[in-house]
Amino acid sequence: MGFKSEIIQDVINDFEVERENMLRIANLFKETMEKSLNGEKTCLKMIPSFIGKPTGKEQGTFMAIDMGGTNFRCTKFKISNGSFEKVAEIKHKLINKEENYDLTKSDIDEKQLFGFMAESIGKLLEPEEALYLGNTFSFPCRQEGINDAYLIQWTKEITTSGVEGNNVNKLLEQALQAKNVNVKPVAILNDTVGTLLVAMYGYQTADIGSIMGTGHNTCYLENNHPLNGKKMIVNTESASYNVGLPVTKYDEIIDKNSQVPGTQLLEKMVSGYYMGSILKEACLDLYKNKAIFTSEAVNADAFFNQSINALMVENFILYPSKTQEQYNCTLEDAEVIKKLSEAILKRAVRLVAVSHMGILFHQENNGTSVKNKHVIAIDGTIYEKMPNVPNLMEEAFKEALGEDASNIEIKLVKDGSGLGAAIAAAFAVTQ
Ligand code: BGC
Repeated sequence: MGFKSEIIQDVINDFEVERENMLRIANLFKETMEKSLNGEKTCLKMIPSFIGKPTGKEQGTFMAIDMGGTNFRCTKFKISNGSFEKVAEIKHKLINKEENYDLTKSDIDEKQLFGFMAESIGKLLEPEEALYLGNTFSFPCRQEGINDAYLIQWTKEITTSGVEGNNVNKLLEQALQAKNVNVKPVAILNDTVGTLLVAMYGYQTADIGSIMGTGHNTCYLENNHPLNGKKMIVNTESASYNVGLPVTKYDEIIDKNSQVPGTQLLEKMVSGYYMGSILKEACLDLYKNKAIFTSEAVNADAFFNQSINALMVENFILYPSKTQEQYNCTLEDAEVIKKLSEAILKRAVRLVAVSHMGILFHQENNGTSVKNKHVIAIDGTIYEKMPNVPNLMEEAFKEALGEDASNIEIKLVKDGSGLGAAIAAAFAVTQ
């Protein structure tokens, strides 16, 4: 192997997670979640949702809102006899350059953010109509009841002021009242919980819900929750998991340059928000070591002076010849960027699968095997759109669990954060 290819291979190897490592981390994950359930403070928040398994008998028309990392969505759903109808929907970007607003920065306060939401909600209401609302709020919260969640800390680099520490649905309710919108928030839930709720309507054995998008997180159905001894969905906030992970020097740089260093470690290794930055750091390392972009004509500045998002990583994987054209590099360079992108994506999938295995081992009360049937519901652009991700996920389970992997089905469940909020609102008012 030549000098260049050796350096390249070393960097690619940094992103490998082998079978033993997968099982080791899965067991650490299980241990950490169990410590947390027993009241110990760990990196896993294990937030109770106060929502169990829906009965399938939930009925009525409900307003659902959903604030993720990129969009704010407001949807009116009609639920009857286990089926759903989307009646109306409005979608806004949180950052809209054309319309010249950015709701994610600290010069925007809670009144502006929730006022914006209240106005959109009002637009979906018919004259004289009054509705209950479920709020999918995809950030770590201290949850004290189905309608009481206090934002612990913004993630996904959002810094809007006046929200952290506060009761989110109270802020929303105040904004709705101020704008005379006849809608009452009755439930607040994480997007993972919404995804699992929707999956539970369709699949008997669905008991894990996960998001692989701008952010990352997983929830699961705890069969015997310490708070009430009953079934309850628990939001693990696995985004902040940090025990025994194969952290590279590139991950350390990403963390150091992030809004809140030292937090959300797993998320920074696996989610769409950070994937492109990891790739950029790894490429920069290769460039400094003269292993890529060595020709005179190459436009390295164009490559390194941009922020690279997950969609660009996808394009690097799918279209190396376009990469070559765009940066005036060699096809060999473009192939290296492709391989590196694939390695980063594969690691992301494996680490997510590992956290799911940790949960499965806990649910099965077992260290290494999975004997019962489980459906894992996943939503998010990384799972849905990035090349080969469902196959990589299946491969990870097979490699780690052998035959037991056949007990695990992974399903793409779309719109969990919209529809899930409507189901949660229905659950709250029909309990
Ligand atoms: C948040 C989670 C959320 C996930 C996916 C993370 O940044 O901490 O609460 O579920 O993103 O949206």
